[in-house]
Amino acid sequence: MDWAASPLFIYNTMNNQLWYKDAVFYQISVRAFKDSNGDGHGDLRGLTEKIDYIKNLGVDCIWIMPIYPSPLRDDGYDIADYYNVSDEYGKLDDLKGLIAAAHERGIRIIMDLVLNHTSDAHPWFQASRSDKNSPYRDYYVWSDTDKKYEGVRIIFGDIEKSNWAWDEKTQQYYWHRFFSSQPDLNFDNPAVQDEMLNVVRFWLTLGIDGFRVDAPTYLFERDGTNCESLPETHAYLKRIRHLIDGEFPEAIMLAESNQWPKELSQYFSSGDEFHMAFHFPLMPRIFLSIAQNNATPIIEILQDTPSIPDNCQWAIFLRNHDELSLEMVTDEERKLMWREFAPEPHMIHNLGIRRRLAPILNNDRSKIELVNSLLFTLPGSPIIYYGDEIGMGDNLNLPDRNGVRTPMQWNSSPNAGFTKGEPFTELIQGQYGFQHINTESQLANPDSLYRAIRRMIHIRKEHHAFGRGSIQFIESNDPGVLAYLREHGEEKILLVHNLTDSSRSFTLPAEYQGGYINLLTNEMQNIQSITLNPYSYHWMKKHAH
Ligand code: GLC
Ligand code: CA
Repeated sequence: MDWAASPLFIYNTMNNQLWYKDAVFYQISVRAFKDSNGDGHGDLRGLTEKIDYIKNLGVDCIWIMPIYPSPLRDDGYDIADYYNVSDEYGKLDDLKGLIAAAHERGIRIIMDLVLNHTSDAHPWFQASRSDKNSPYRDYYVWSDTDKKYEGVRIIFGDIEKSNWAWDEKTQQYYWHRFFSSQPDLNFDNPAVQDEMLNVVRFWLTLGIDGFRVDAPTYLFERDGTNCESLPETHAYLKRIRHLIDGEFPEAIMLAESNQWPKELSQYFSSGDEFHMAFHFPLMPRIFLSIAQNNATPIIEILQDTPSIPDNCQWAIFLRNHDELSLEMVTDEERKLMWREFAPEPHMIHNLGIRRRLAPILNNDRSKIELVNSLLFTLPGSPIIYYGDEIGMGDNLNLPDRNGVRTPMQWNSSPNAGFTKGEPFTELIQGQYGFQHINTESQLANPDSLYRAIRRMIHIRKEHHAFGRGSIQFIESNDPGVLAYLREHGEEKILLVHNLTDSSRSFTLPAEYQGGYINLLTNEMQNIQSITLNPYSYHWMKKHAH
């Protein structure tokens, strides 16, 4: 079937204010994706050249990581100019070209919006720290004492020992929730609030379809609180939403807030704050369930997740450009996951695991497919991290989180087809090297991981139940089996996963027995019970009659 030409595809992506509820997302590091001019750094033109690869995978929306001018102390999450593109990636016109190429194909583009902090190289901070009387002094959070807001957690705990940094020249401390090279903006200052609304308007006017809002949790600080998710913060985020609703009604805001389900769901408010939020507590539990051969962690966290307004959607993910964060699990669960998925100390970063999906799962094809099946069928919209669709590896010799931001492996030609020049970082060697793992060979091979994932995506796109349907967990008497029904209108899809390494037999409760179409094989089946191979997944659509 030519899925791209099917009416549903068009329905999914165009002229539809709730498009993000059906969409498949794809996260890209522009630097690592494709170099067009041979300087060894990926760029916007390179990404534009590869737009059909992305379209073919079935992606509806690309999230590009920061491309702003930046000293790159935190890979661009330290912004020095909010109104431009770094030369490394091209010009604003190249971004417009990318947007046009994407829109022509029904693909949208969202980008990072870093509200909480700037780079210390940003002219606002340069002015702020130059003089206590500078009009920009109050753009940042200054204090005579580093005892203020005591007890607030330190996020980059591997490197930073305090959220305050001393400024020699003006003899005060400034506040920073991330690296000390990322001073927090002072959102109590109305000028800062207005500046950021201008930034939002600038990119949406240019044609960007929305934002992955970086670290929205920390905008305001208040004494006696943990300085996270404060009412003032939510009020300001609603102002951004109000602007978007009024001027760019199809644009979206996606929250990166690493919180427990109840705090997290507050970011949707009553449908007038964020459109989407990453489900940070669900992500580690997908891995935990595999480690423990037990569906309970997934079921419990989803049962603990409040229902959200109709115009809102969870973003589900397995991996991203950061460490696999383990903030939203118990100490005991974290230890178990370190043991299982980060057996060597240098694999751990802050609290999480700085590895890619395939290595975390020992390159076990059936486990990799299984977790992807969960990604594409649990409630929410899936976000794929570039390269995970071909099972790319990581480079643990690189510092910080750079090991999972290596060049995309396009083919087996020198430098993986990523660049004609000298790549900005060394390419992955060994079993995950580009000679073995690349898009060209996987596109050609019907049995490749890429083809399995593309297939799941395309089946997903033919059914609204995945993006919009309810979920009903089905009793299985076997904790190793995770079975649920996704239902939307007449559409009923039964998903069954074997989370164990042994064969299982799963008997359907009487009310679920009957005729199904196996969506992965297209076979019609009358089902009372299913035999489940180790780590197998089954997508079964109930017959209408
Ligand atoms: C977010 C980003 C991370 C960055 C941090 C500070 O957590 O995902 O990469 O370092 O914000 O901006
Ligand atoms: Ca380049």
